[in-house]
Amino acid sequence: MTIKDFNFAGKKAIVRVDFNVPLDGNGNITDDTRIRGALPTLKHILEQGGALIIMSHMGKPKGKVNPKMSLGQIKDAVAKALGTDVKFAPDCAKAKAEADALKMGEVLLLENLRFYPEEEGKPVGLEKGTPEYDEAKKALKETQKEFAKTLASYADCYVMDAFGTAHRKHASTAVIADYFDADHKMLGFLMEKEVKAVDNVLNNIKRPFVAIMGGSKVSTKIGIIENLLGKVDKLILCGGMTYTFSKAHGGEIGDSIVELDKLDVALGVEEMAKKNGVELVLGTDSVCCTGYDFSTFSVKPGAKIKVFPSNAIENGWDGLDAGPKSREAFAKAIEGAKTILWNGPAGCFECDEFTAGSRAVGEAVAKATAEGAFSLIGGGDSVACVHKFGLEDKVSYISTGGGALLEAIEGKVLPGVAAIKG
Ligand code: 3PG
Repeated sequence: MTIKDFNFAGKKAIVRVDFNVPLDGNGNITDDTRIRGALPTLKHILEQGGALIIMSHMGKPKGKVNPKMSLGQIKDAVAKALGTDVKFAPDCAKAKAEADALKMGEVLLLENLRFYPEEEGKPVGLEKGTPEYDEAKKALKETQKEFAKTLASYADCYVMDAFGTAHRKHASTAVIADYFDADHKMLGFLMEKEVKAVDNVLNNIKRPFVAIMGGSKVSTKIGIIENLLGKVDKLILCGGMTYTFSKAHGGEIGDSIVELDKLDVALGVEEMAKKNGVELVLGTDSVCCTGYDFSTFSVKPGAKIKVFPSNAIENGWDGLDAGPKSREAFAKAIEGAKTILWNGPAGCFECDEFTAGSRAVGEAVAKATAEGAFSLIGGGDSVACVHKFGLEDKVSYISTGGGALLEAIEGKVLPGVAAIKG
């Protein structure tokens, strides 16, 4: 069943969206990409004469109620985006009365699903790997089914449109699908669009294919890096992981971030690139600072900024962005690309002094896109870069997924998709 084939008139639809949007200290949404992304599905259901029950998680409340992660904070923003009133159910597992009272054309937003441990199926307050944890997890599997069944009881049909959370096998993203017949569960428009964009990168590659992976740790990206080494022509590795590579070759990296237990992993990546004929592009110089405050994203008063070779950084200096030579190399590597994947910034882009690396990458991606490349950008930080540099309309596709996008590109079947498609 696809969303286009289903007739929502007179039907209540429970829709899993990913409204895990970033909020500032006052509860204001700082990036509403994910809300805008879900609108085509939500509006389609209302326009066809259906009623909407919207469910999502926000943050990681770990199975406990936490007002800072209440979806009540975004109710008005959702109402504004939809152009209609939104009712709010303050307990997602006790919303049967509110769901029953819902009339066609009306919208009900459920409170954060992760206020219940059943959503994720992860025991709370127990150490992973202990017999107590395993026992509790087994018991939770059963109550998770009950939780999913309760959510399912609110509606006539289920729509999965939370691409950002589709890599999680949770009650609302996967288990719930068991409680609907095959012709009453479907993927939403956003899911269809995201899956198509991934497909474009995976199965419809126009060469050269250039991937840019940034971020601070090689360990969290190793799965996708290894996978990409079998597909891309060039791989740019930037951001904090640069220093693990420098260190692996005996470079001096000053106070820069490093994963000392992953030096062999870095060398293995280089070897694999060589074997596969992939051009690996690493930054050769870095913009460094003597005092950066990571909590406020600012340079401490009196701190100095200077460019060093990435393998000869003096003690007391921290590499925070790609230097001019690296930026030029990145731009050159991206030039002429026909397929581009960008995940992870090239520096601490949140601070104006260290945006140049990510800006150079973003602008090169935009230029290649203007010249005919298909560019896919995913992951919160790279998407934030695209917005910061005003490049939203100059790239082909901005994904609402971070981890989900990477797992999809790794070729893994997303549980949220498997639950619908079998
Ligand atoms: C995300 O922000 O990547 C998604 O909302 C998934 O969140 P999670 O990593 O907490 O499961």
